[in-house]
Amino acid sequence: MDSMFLNRLGAAVLLSVVSVWVCHAAGFALVPQTAPAKPAFSLPGQDSKPIAPYLAHADASRGDALVHQICTSCHALNEGASDGVGPDLAGVTGRKIAGLAGYAYSAALKGQAGHVWSDQALSDWLTSPARFAPGTRMSLVGLTDPAQRADVITYLHTLGDARPLATPPEAKGTP
Ligand code: HEC
Repeated sequence: MDSMFLNRLGAAVLLSVVSVWVCHAAGFALVPQTAPAKPAFSLPGQDSKPIAPYLAHADASRGDALVHQICTSCHALNEGASDGVGPDLAGVTGRKIAGLAGYAYSAALKGQAGHVWSDQALSDWLTSPARFAPGTRMSLVGLTDPAQRADVITYLHTLGDARPLATPPEAKGTP
């Protein structure tokens, strides 16, 4: 193997790296990375409805009643409680979607794990879980009334906002 060969090899590798980088940079410069202002398709009457105006008039005690009527057959509401059919809802607001360690989420919900449960995401989910995450195991038709969704979300906030995903166990024996 002569040094000329090694030189050529080095140059070839360098050239490949540079050309990949140039293509990457040119691609980013030419195609702007922006989310579409409007979704590519939407079904009539099925658009996500802004929940903020309803939250302004929401009532946690009405939400409390609704949650105990509809959700507690499947969900626990106390921090540290064992999960029911569904995951524990304490601290769900602001938590990463499908983010509770130890609960076996469906692949459908895990597919949304890059997002957090904002008020709007919770509203969209509760409108129709099957549309939010097709294939989800939460078999709830959905709450069509935005005022009811706002009440439920306001109540969920009273259960404590997102705790760290993996809380380190408290060190034993420290004062
Ligand atoms: C029939 C049982 C059932 C009922 C009733 C139900 N859920 Fe669920 N819920 C589930 C299951 C199962 C999952 C997990 C879904 C999955 O993994 O696809 C879930 C997931 C969730 C999640 C996602 C939690 C996370 O950690 O990402 C939220 C939020 C939620 N439910 C809220 C509610 C609320 C609020 C109600 C009442 C209005 C409700 N659920 C009623 C079974 C139920």
